[in-house]
Amino acid sequence: MIAVLWVCWFLIINGVRTEPRNFRLVLDDIIVSDRDPDLMEKLEVQLSQRNNRSYVDAQIIFKRNFKDMSARTALDFWKSSNTKMRLYDVRLDACLFLDVSHKNRLFNIYAKALRNYSNLSCPFKANFTYTFKQLYFDEQELPSFIPLGVFRALIEYSTKQKLSARIKIRGKIVPRL
Ligand SMILES: *[C@@H]1O[C@H](CO)[C@@H](O)[C@H](O)[C@H]1NC(C)=O
Ligand SMILES: *[C@@H]1O[C@H](CO)[C@@H](O)[C@H](O)[C@H]1NC(C)=O
Ligand SMILES: *[C@@H]1O[C@H](CO)[C@@H](O)[C@H](O)[C@H]1NC(C)=O
Ligand SMILES: *[C@@H]1O[C@H](CO)[C@@H](O)[C@H](O)[C@H]1NC(C)=O
Repeated sequence: MIAVLWVCWFLIINGVRTEPRNFRLVLDDIIVSDRDPDLMEKLEVQLSQRNNRSYVDAQIIFKRNFKDMSARTALDFWKSSNTKMRLYDVRLDACLFLDVSHKNRLFNIYAKALRNYSNLSCPFKANFTYTFKQLYFDEQELPSFIPLGVFRALIEYSTKQKLSARIKIRGKIVPRL
């Protein structure tokens, strides 16, 4: 879910090197809205800051069994110069991300992170609690060069053309002192 951001970064600059990163990724704010109560019994997200790192926890309970969910993700970035860049705006089948056997490298990276921090899996089952536990973005997994600035991500989940939930994330890339 949140880890979609990862995919975005990998799309901008492709290439992971091993030298220590000189930046930190900080999440300032995560807001959930427009939850469809007919589909989602619960969708709660908690953000916490610990040891210079932002951690995300989440709990999700669906009301019925289903697998057709699409996720639209848009990512905007403002460099210090204040010019807005739209880095990413795409709609994808949410289950594609979770499919272990998917060939696309980007999807695999994302799916790996999801499996690591959550027990969400497709098809989604009713009345189970799916959780994300202490998800964080390891700067070492990101490209070695990312400009400083602030970003906003919008993730919209829909099922059968109907909005199921909207998640807004605000964060920033700051220098590691
Ligand atoms: C957090 O960052 C501050 C300032 O960069 C640094 O002094 C401190 O040691 C860091 N703490 C941890 C746990 O890395
Ligand atoms: C998986 O989680 C562990 C523990 O939080 C972490 O050390 C590791 O880097 C994570 N791996 C991936 C691929 O996210
Ligand atoms: C989920 O739980 C509710 C309330 O206990 C029940 O009415 C419903 O049939 C359950 N749904 C499924 C698919 O098990
Ligand atoms: C996911 O993990 C949570 C907490 O570890 C657990 O309570 C829940 O039953 C798990 N859900 C599924 C569908 O396995």
